[in-house]
Amino acid sequence: MPAIAIIGAQWGDEGKGKATDLLGSSVDYVVKFNGGNNAGHTVVIGEEKYALHLLPSGILTPGCTPVIGNGVVVDLAVLFEEIDGLNARGVDTSALKLSASAHVIADYNRQLDKVTERFLGSRRIGTTGRGIGPTYADKMNRIGIRIQDLFDEKILRGKVEGALELKNQILTKIYNRRGFTVDAVVEDLTQYADRLAPYVCDTGLLLNQALDRGETVLLEAGQATLLDVDHGTYPFVTSSSATAGGACTGSGIPPTRLTQVIGIVKAYTTRVGEGPFPTELHDDNGEFLRKQGWEYGTTTGRPRRCGWFDSVIARYAARVNGVTDFVLTKLDVLTGLEQVPVCVAYEVDGVRHDEMPVNQSDFHHAVPVYEYLPGWWEDISQARSFEELPANAQAYVERCEQLSGATISVIGVGPGRHETVVRHPLV
Ligand code: GDP
Ligand code: IMO
Ligand code: MG
Repeated sequence: MPAIAIIGAQWGDEGKGKATDLLGSSVDYVVKFNGGNNAGHTVVIGEEKYALHLLPSGILTPGCTPVIGNGVVVDLAVLFEEIDGLNARGVDTSALKLSASAHVIADYNRQLDKVTERFLGSRRIGTTGRGIGPTYADKMNRIGIRIQDLFDEKILRGKVEGALELKNQILTKIYNRRGFTVDAVVEDLTQYADRLAPYVCDTGLLLNQALDRGETVLLEAGQATLLDVDHGTYPFVTSSSATAGGACTGSGIPPTRLTQVIGIVKAYTTRVGEGPFPTELHDDNGEFLRKQGWEYGTTTGRPRRCGWFDSVIARYAARVNGVTDFVLTKLDVLTGLEQVPVCVAYEVDGVRHDEMPVNQSDFHHAVPVYEYLPGWWEDISQARSFEELPANAQAYVERCEQLSGATISVIGVGPGRHETVVRHPLV
């Protein structure tokens, strides 16, 4: 014991990478349990900036074992690109462990992700185009390729043949694209087998044994609560379980061992891709947040949609995940506003909703009910204690905390590791 989960409380990019890195030196293992290289985590250490997609952010902390769990979908080319990139910068990645049961993103699934989006037209999801959705669909459909399959060419060939029987029909007959040959797919996947072998193990066993020894395991979510395939704004979601429940299924750590769930929430809201977003701003304030917060996707470079803090969403995330602590990030970005609106509830067709409407069509029509808090102008990036924040910034944090239903234990005042205010230590 203990196992701790870090979860995104909004639509992603809340600063999970920084939070994980912050805790890296206090934990023994950091586990990525869902998603794949659709994630993009920027971690700033001193003058160095790292953009991670597939590797858990714990890879940057010496002595901490990074683990890619069974719930992840792995693009092998991206994995080795990331490993090589970090090695070239002097980061040791040799401790990495990769689940034998994680699924592999095959070429045909990257292709299918892109052509499906084009096919959907105005109903597109705005995916990252990395093949994530089709690979999870194959997993559920029981035609997926797993890491362990790469070490037996006969087994791999049989599985690829089975998958391509279906995939090639879809690609050629529905999308009018060229199909894939079994040989090309098998060759593409097996080229990595020798390099992969030293990393592969039963990560569920490894992590449970570590917990038995009293070591600490941090489970780091990709994506976020509102992108979760069950609890998010379906169908505008990713295809994995990004919430605290997913931390267990995606790692093999049972729920009874999870002792703490840390929700990462931005002091405002952003979203990349399509889908409803009640507090979205289409005016100068939206541009202010995008510019001040440098809100451009780490993975696709797309400008992020920006809006005010939405406490209905934060309360929902607290409930779905059992959040024990919130980390409120990017408070510094709000500096310089005359007043800062906070969404406290929605109105849908004249009816007030204090909780997330269960019906997505209501959420699409939700109009935010705002409370307006006074802003602050002082630079807060040097603050290292709550008392050092201007009174109005303190009041903003306290109101967000009241509305969100869990303690805000840590506040981010800049991208750097140390640009952090700790009200209550997390580990
Ligand atoms: P993740 O996907 O949740 O890990 O978040 P991203 O890395 O995609 O996006 C968060 C961005 O905000 C990164 O560029 C971080 O360096 C940056 N960041 C994190 N915390 C803070 C903060 O408190 N203040 C500021 N200004 N930037 C932050
Ligand atoms: P991190 O871990 C923000 C969004 C995509 C799209 C939807 C589905 O950095 O917070 P997918 O490629 O997963 O099938 O796309 O989910 N999305 C993210 N948005 N941050 C992410 O990850 C995201 N990962 C996926 O933009 O709307
Ligand atoms: Mg991100």
